[in-house]
Amino acid sequence: PTIRLADYTRPAWEVDTVHLTFRLSPDATEVRARIRFKPGRGGDLWLDGQALDLLEAAIDGKPVAPAVGKQGLSVPAADLPKDGFEWTCTTRIDPEGNTSLEGLYLSQGMYCTQCEAEGFRRITYFPDRPDVMAIYTVRIESDLPVLLSNGNRIGSGPGWAEWHDPWPKPAYLFALVAGDLKSVTDSFTTRSGRKVDLAIWVRDGDQDRCAYAMDSLKRSMRWDEEVYGREYDLDLFQIVAVDDFNAGAMENKGLNIFNSKYVLASPETATDGDFEGIESVIAHEYFHNWTGNRITCRDWFQLSLKEGLTVFRDQCFTADMRSAPVKRIQDVQGLRAAQFREDAGPLAHPVRPEEYVEINNFYTATVYEKGAEVIRMLREIVGAEAYETALNLYFERHDGQACTIEDWLQVFEDATGRDLSQFKLWYRQAGTPQLDVEEQFDGTVHRLTFRQNVPATPGQPNKQPMPIPVRWGALDASGHEFANGLHIADAAVTTLDIPCSARPVMSLLRGFSAPVHLKQAEQVGDRAHRLAHDTDPFNRWDAGRALAMEALLDGGDTQDWCDGVGRVLEDEALDPAFRAMVLSVPGEGEIAQATALAGRVVDPDVIHARRKQVRQNLAHHLSDRLAPLRDAQQIDGPYSPDGSAPGKRALANGLLGLIALQSDGLNLAQAAFDRADNMTDSLAALTILTAHGAGKNALAHFHHRWSGVSLVIDKWFGVQARFGSIADIEALLDHTEFTWRTPNRFRALIASFAFGNPTEFHRKDGAGYQLLADWLLRMDALNPMVAARTSTAFDSWRTVTEDRQALIATQLERIASAPTLSKDTSEMIGRLRAG
Ligand code: ARG
Ligand code: ZN
Repeated sequence: PTIRLADYTRPAWEVDTVHLTFRLSPDATEVRARIRFKPGRGGDLWLDGQALDLLEAAIDGKPVAPAVGKQGLSVPAADLPKDGFEWTCTTRIDPEGNTSLEGLYLSQGMYCTQCEAEGFRRITYFPDRPDVMAIYTVRIESDLPVLLSNGNRIGSGPGWAEWHDPWPKPAYLFALVAGDLKSVTDSFTTRSGRKVDLAIWVRDGDQDRCAYAMDSLKRSMRWDEEVYGREYDLDLFQIVAVDDFNAGAMENKGLNIFNSKYVLASPETATDGDFEGIESVIAHEYFHNWTGNRITCRDWFQLSLKEGLTVFRDQCFTADMRSAPVKRIQDVQGLRAAQFREDAGPLAHPVRPEEYVEINNFYTATVYEKGAEVIRMLREIVGAEAYETALNLYFERHDGQACTIEDWLQVFEDATGRDLSQFKLWYRQAGTPQLDVEEQFDGTVHRLTFRQNVPATPGQPNKQPMPIPVRWGALDASGHEFANGLHIADAAVTTLDIPCSARPVMSLLRGFSAPVHLKQAEQVGDRAHRLAHDTDPFNRWDAGRALAMEALLDGGDTQDWCDGVGRVLEDEALDPAFRAMVLSVPGEGEIAQATALAGRVVDPDVIHARRKQVRQNLAHHLSDRLAPLRDAQQIDGPYSPDGSAPGKRALANGLLGLIALQSDGLNLAQAAFDRADNMTDSLAALTILTAHGAGKNALAHFHHRWSGVSLVIDKWFGVQARFGSIADIEALLDHTEFTWRTPNRFRALIASFAFGNPTEFHRKDGAGYQLLADWLLRMDALNPMVAARTSTAFDSWRTVTEDRQALIATQLERIASAPTLSKDTSEMIGRLRAG
């Protein structure tokens, strides 16, 4: 059934307290629940429940026999004491047989939970909706040495432990962990002087890979105090690393559970990118304590209320810890690759969706990353100071509540006196706006005319103009910036007049001030001018990007671009990390998007060949400057994931990628692989060798060296999936270390192939599509959430050549007509086919 935002009603019954007792056993765990209900809107009692064996139930101690169905149970209002009652029940569940990794499951001998969004209903019967908040006390009985739940431990003995969380929370924030775990501990003193114990729990042997996560946690705690005035609110904060996990991590109150990929790192096993990922996910989950947990969502349509805001917060944190311009470039690159792609196809949906079948299908780039952009725009429009005032009001007014996007915007209206009704369209209208700019210089005034168009998306044929904040700067012929400002394009057509005596070069949408496609018909030479002189680093990078894209689309001249990139590379005043980004060529997915946006048919083979050619042109242009530039990035001293070293490595490895295109270059790549003393350099060299079909020995060596270290073996699968043939990938699927029970491994092979190997995925005989469909069907029977997520690899199918579209249509139909298909995957396939 479709759930609609418009149908929201308050809960019939609310909950004061929850007492849970778990008697853990792999295939027959017993959960005893004692729940204190109080009247809400009134009516029958509905409790969600899935895959539960109900052993007994009582109301105020008197046994009851409720009507039990596949989705839950109900008790008629007439059988319920009007003023409230105590519900008790015992359910039996099967953690070992739980391959969905939602609810309580076993991962390599360790019990753990994932309850967001609707996993708690697989543990016991409960009103499993975020606007029902309660205080939890939990008793765990098991022989396992470590027994954890939310909040503070209030008692323990041999074979049991009890936990109490004083903060009311929705069921999706419940967590339980039990296993033979080891901890790394530390402490943090809050600015008001309270000492918080910190613990990271891992499997024995992994303790020495937790230091970076712990350090990131302490920096996150400090940052939230300094920048948002938010202190931690319990005496204990715990993180657990799990190998089998559907998502990246989960912000359960006081007991965050993480995919081990975002906790464990050492220089030998983790890349610079992995370290940065750990820092940002640790921050993200920690920041949820205020934006998500203390203030939560009324219903799942409001998901971006916590996710968009928390992503925005973690982006700002990373910008403060590292280089702000480089972080912005990375984020926009990610936004364009994933969110613009989503917005352009059959899966497009608003930041606040208005209906869904399965909410897990809406943990998307739009809700997360576009949601963060919307908050960035809001801050841009009201100003940093007003943003801070509004946020303080938000925390003050809504602490302890389950809120809506309306509540959020109301806070900004009250704090600033602005009318944000038009701004709200950013939450309601799907699709990436196109902003066309025309420029006219009349001798005294430079006039810009902005025309916006929000494309039609599924279910939304007509759109209204939105307020698009455009940060701008005007450059003169010598590259000097003589004027700048903020223009808000808030109607179908708006104009901006800049008084000046000569035609300027306009730098528009600085810092990517709005998530739109900007179409600026620049004069010949303007882009190259901005690549050389723009004072906004983001736009400087983007000018290079646009130059490259022009050549990529038309197979045209690369001279201006090569010249400009060469000058940036040799500018020692520029951050190596920034230079590395200027050096990188748009990926095949991004080129495919630009092709479709220009109204042309996407032929992945043509795109692949063009991109290769453009990179070759650059390598040829830079020729013997490449090696000395690379040598200049040598790093002295021990490995550090912070400071300037990662940027230098990124630049050196980017250059190595171009050197590999020259004669004898692969020998240098092989030497780099042999010499590498950290995972960043090792994986970069391995990737280059494999991309050129010269990775056989290196791959064997890498596999041997890292056997048993699963996060590294994932990389080994991933590289081959991106550059191998279908036959190679089929062989890997038969490899003893391939397992569909660990989402990371499945993604390393299947998602890397479907998203990262366009040539083979789009093979003209349809073998790539068939392989993906086969594995989606296999995965769907085990883990619907992961299968449904992977099906998004088909989301651009309407843009490719007709023969390929027909082949994909056949596979989508085959999946759709499978005898049993999860709600998750059937919703996704339905949307894909309709689009
Ligand atoms: N709230 C978690 C986070 O963003 C992610 C939970 C993912 N759950 C899901 N059903 N996809 O940090
Ligand atoms: Zn989140």
